[in-house]
Amino acid sequence: MSETPPVSPEIDALLQEHRVFPPSEAFRAQAAVNDPEVYARAAADPEAFWEGFARELEWMRPWTRVLEWTPPDAKWFTGGTLNASVNCVDRHARSARRNKAALIWEGEPGDRRTLTYFDLFRQVSQFANVLKSLGVTKGDRVALYLPLIPELAIAMLACARIGAVHSVVFGGFSAESLRDRINDSQCRLLVTADGGFRRGHVVALKQVADEAVADTPSIETVIVVQRGQQDIPVVMKDGRDRWYHDLMREASHDCPPEEMDAEDMLYILYTSGTTGKPKGIVHTTGGYLVGTYATAKWVFDLKEDDVYWCTADIGWVTGHSYVVYGPLANGATVVMYEGAPDWPEKDRFWEIVERHGVTIFYTAPTAIRAFMRWGTDWPRRRDLSSLRLLGSVGEPINPEAWIWYHLHIGAERCPIVDTWWQTETGGMMITPLPGLTATKPGSATHTFPGISAEILNDAGEPVPVGGGLLALTKPWPAMLRGIYGDRDRFIKQYFSRWPGGIYFTGDGAKRDEEGYFWLLGRVDDVINVAGHRLGTMEVESALVDHPHVAEAAVVGRSHEIKGQAIAAFVTVKEGVAISEALGEELKKHVAHKIGAIARPDDIIFAADLPKTRSGKIMRRLLRDIAEGKAIGDTTTLADPAVVARLKEQYLAIEG
Ligand code: WTA
Repeated sequence: MSETPPVSPEIDALLQEHRVFPPSEAFRAQAAVNDPEVYARAAADPEAFWEGFARELEWMRPWTRVLEWTPPDAKWFTGGTLNASVNCVDRHARSARRNKAALIWEGEPGDRRTLTYFDLFRQVSQFANVLKSLGVTKGDRVALYLPLIPELAIAMLACARIGAVHSVVFGGFSAESLRDRINDSQCRLLVTADGGFRRGHVVALKQVADEAVADTPSIETVIVVQRGQQDIPVVMKDGRDRWYHDLMREASHDCPPEEMDAEDMLYILYTSGTTGKPKGIVHTTGGYLVGTYATAKWVFDLKEDDVYWCTADIGWVTGHSYVVYGPLANGATVVMYEGAPDWPEKDRFWEIVERHGVTIFYTAPTAIRAFMRWGTDWPRRRDLSSLRLLGSVGEPINPEAWIWYHLHIGAERCPIVDTWWQTETGGMMITPLPGLTATKPGSATHTFPGISAEILNDAGEPVPVGGGLLALTKPWPAMLRGIYGDRDRFIKQYFSRWPGGIYFTGDGAKRDEEGYFWLLGRVDDVINVAGHRLGTMEVESALVDHPHVAEAAVVGRSHEIKGQAIAAFVTVKEGVAISEALGEELKKHVAHKIGAIARPDDIIFAADLPKTRSGKIMRRLLRDIAEGKAIGDTTTLADPAVVARLKEQYLAIEG
């Protein structure tokens, strides 16, 4: 196992104190929200609260009702019509923000581009016309498989402009993953690029896309963005593949936006769940935009001159909500960086903060733990004095990492917002408000105003103080409206644990005496590796797909940097010899099937897997073995000796 990052005496002292960190008087005084009354007001009338934010957006026709709730179906702002791209682009391009930087982009090799709101407006309109000219119409699905380049945001907003539904697939996913996602929602068109850059290497996206599209009958056209910087060889298929720059050259800048119903679909984003197949989470237009607009505005305390940087890839929900829709709806300046934090050096992020004068920085605990490991010299070399607010998202942040972030990046001056939410929630749900909340390292603190969460036990009884399952007890505007094409799974997964339209998050959490929420991680078969969500069954399916594997059971074990690592227990078929080489081959096989993020950290070959007498694999025991914990009761097992053997084996591997 990896070693623990060193904890300095400074950090140790702070941790011993169990300190609470109220916002500084200076921060509080300038914050957009600094009146604690907002919580009570929102709780008294959540619909009026959300309606207030909706009024700040631009609608084509006003809504007639704020909420219609027939669990599990919510409709927000019914009767209202609007267009997301108008709200994210046009209305700023028409205003004093016309020449304000909308996107400040850096490629990993060092190339840079800045697009003003007016630039973005023109390019979004042009690309919307390109899509139209290729026959894409309202309701059609469009897959986007791109590196983190401005064209990804442009393509999303262009889809929104004409009412097409985008389905962004993270550029690190494999051909098979892309293929399955395209087929599940029957996308008509795919936008990809010749390649992107990661740690100095070219990621040849078009090649992967070609492999995927060989088996996606619904795709009519593939648009290829030339990433620039260096020639990346691609093969263009006649009649199917078109260059982005060729199409854009001919397209008009004038594209009237489609009038969308508040409940028309905006996008689908696939995420891992408890079955082998990722599910397409559906978000609609009005509520999602209101939710991301409101949370970006209040949680990031966005001001006109802020330079805001969320390091997430747009391939994940964090990028959808807090690189694209939330900040752009606010007219903010958004920094985008394509590559790795340690390329060419371990201070790349701090170099970017310094160069662009970043004021708000939002990243994942995994990254913070890596920075911690790399040491304080890297951030110290750079001028980080522009920073005024820090954020964390994607996994629980351990107090050590929180304090390190506070001391060495925030210079004890910047509030930290630890934001809990999910692909399904669309926007932040449990988070501090930086001008109001006294934070505690490791706690996401309180629900955003207007949001209702509780800790429930299995019976659905509230646990006011203590641990249990995190539930969301009232509907909220940005909530998912379904799983694409799978109504049953939507109900079963989220709304069948308790009656009455209570949403089950899949997370365990506890509440302390002061009502603070502490997130404890997933209680289902979802694991969170470096802030990326994976299903254990997905990895298992990839493993048993290998001709030598008989059975596989995958669990998450704790990992100092990544939060969780993947441990796979595998039995091989009769006559197959076990070797280190086979272990490596299996890891590669999984990476090839799903994507590098799913590559198992440990492969443990076993003669048998611990099963109950009814044949169910006991994952809990495997988790205990992988964590090196004491093994509890094994009396329900068909063969208790299996566990002892596995444990011995695991210890031998780990040394
Ligand atoms: C976890 C990412 C603790 C949680 C936005 C959730 C967190 C899952 C936090 C959703 C946080 C996210 N503290 N845990 N601040 N943020 N999680 O869909 O387990 O990729 O259920 O959305 O990440 O992951 P997803």
